[in-house]
Amino acid sequence: MATLKYKLPSPYTTVASPPPVEDEAYTRHLQDLRLTSPSNNQTYGVAIFGIGRAGTIHLRNLLNNRRTELLYVVDDDVNKLQKIKNYYSINTNTTQLITSKDGKLVYQDPRVRFVVISSPTFTHEELIREALTNRKAVFCEKPIADNIESTIKMFQLAKQVNQPLFSAFNRRFDPSYLSLRNRVRAGEVGKVLTVKVHSRDSPLPTLEYLKISGGFFHDSCVHDIDQILFALGELPDKVVSFSHANIPEIKAIDDYDNISALLSFPSGANGIIDLNRHCTYGYEQRLEVFGEKGMLKAENKAALDNVEFYTEKGVSKVPIDYSFASRFKEAYEMEIEHFVEVLDGTTELRVTENTNLAVSKIATALEESARSGKIVHLTWTAKEAIN
Ligand SMILES: NC(=O)c1ccc[n+]([C@@H]2O[C@H](COP(=O)([O-])OP(=O)(O)OC[C@H]3O[C@@H](n4cnc5c(N)ncnc54)[C@H](O)[C@@H]3O)[C@@H](O)[C@H]2O)c1
Repeated sequence: MATLKYKLPSPYTTVASPPPVEDEAYTRHLQDLRLTSPSNNQTYGVAIFGIGRAGTIHLRNLLNNRRTELLYVVDDDVNKLQKIKNYYSINTNTTQLITSKDGKLVYQDPRVRFVVISSPTFTHEELIREALTNRKAVFCEKPIADNIESTIKMFQLAKQVNQPLFSAFNRRFDPSYLSLRNRVRAGEVGKVLTVKVHSRDSPLPTLEYLKISGGFFHDSCVHDIDQILFALGELPDKVVSFSHANIPEIKAIDDYDNISALLSFPSGANGIIDLNRHCTYGYEQRLEVFGEKGMLKAENKAALDNVEFYTEKGVSKVPIDYSFASRFKEAYEMEIEHFVEVLDGTTELRVTENTNLAVSKIATALEESARSGKIVHLTWTAKEAIN
């Protein structure tokens, strides 16, 4: 009886609070339920190049997206194409499965509005050039090209033909990282002092992949650099990295598997990256932003993070997400949605040309520092600014 005085009126007689905006999945469910969404219903024809670890994720998302019409699946592995056809029950009257030597079918098809490129990095430049020259918009897996000069050329071409060129820094679309970034920008932790990224890969990629990956700095560290820039909106003036190859096979190909990097910013903030190629307990992804007024952090996720197991030894949980496919599942869906909205003209590319060039320049400087053991100083012109 002691709490009877706190009894609320019937919830049927009061106005319910709206669902939390952070619950992206529920927001999308409501759109499906009401059959309305803030975007229009126009569909865009798409071709996807390269169905490997990244392409498989994009393929599923393109098949599931109500705004995209999959017209071509392009992969140079003919056996894989046949298996894709069977596995996804692809109707070959509407979706053609071809190899890249028949790529002109894609470029000459006026129904194709954009291409998704998720083939190996060394193929990106040529595929982007062909697509842009034929006035197709481009959604490309990072990095845009092998080096900064080619990346600049690709962005110049995109401007010349007035088509969007998007580099898929997927972490910007992860709901928890995005929310954290928005709260940092809203001043919730005040002036930022430190951004710390813990990033450890799982599973260990094959040596075949590592040999053509462009190296650990340009293949993976770019994501961590991008996260720091996304939070801070500022460019570092000094960077240093101490990096090692502890795995003999990685040392033999002159790459690194253990990177520590420090980025120093003119505002007085530091960025700290702790990156490893091989993490035995899962795909570690943690982000911390420490400021004068407090700290925001995004922790690892687990598939069954609401399940706890109790024994006489204590309480345990299931392992954290095993790989990028699970940890960033929503981010990959959201980046395709974002690109479609860019095509609608209702939003601007969240990953800009300047961001791409800055990330590439910083990755190159960090690798130089790792090799020389020295601090690398960076200068930027006003034209290179990011926000
Ligand atoms: N953003 C991310 O989370 C993420 C994750 C993994 C990979 N990636 C990027 O995605 C790209 C692909 O990496 P992956 O690990 O998926 O590679 P992968 O080796 O698993 O798959 C590549 C696929 O492309 C096909 N291919 C090769 N040349 C081709 C061509 N010219 N045209 C069409 N298909 C071709 C291969 O047959 C293969 O099926 C790389 O640039 C990598 O950096 C991004």
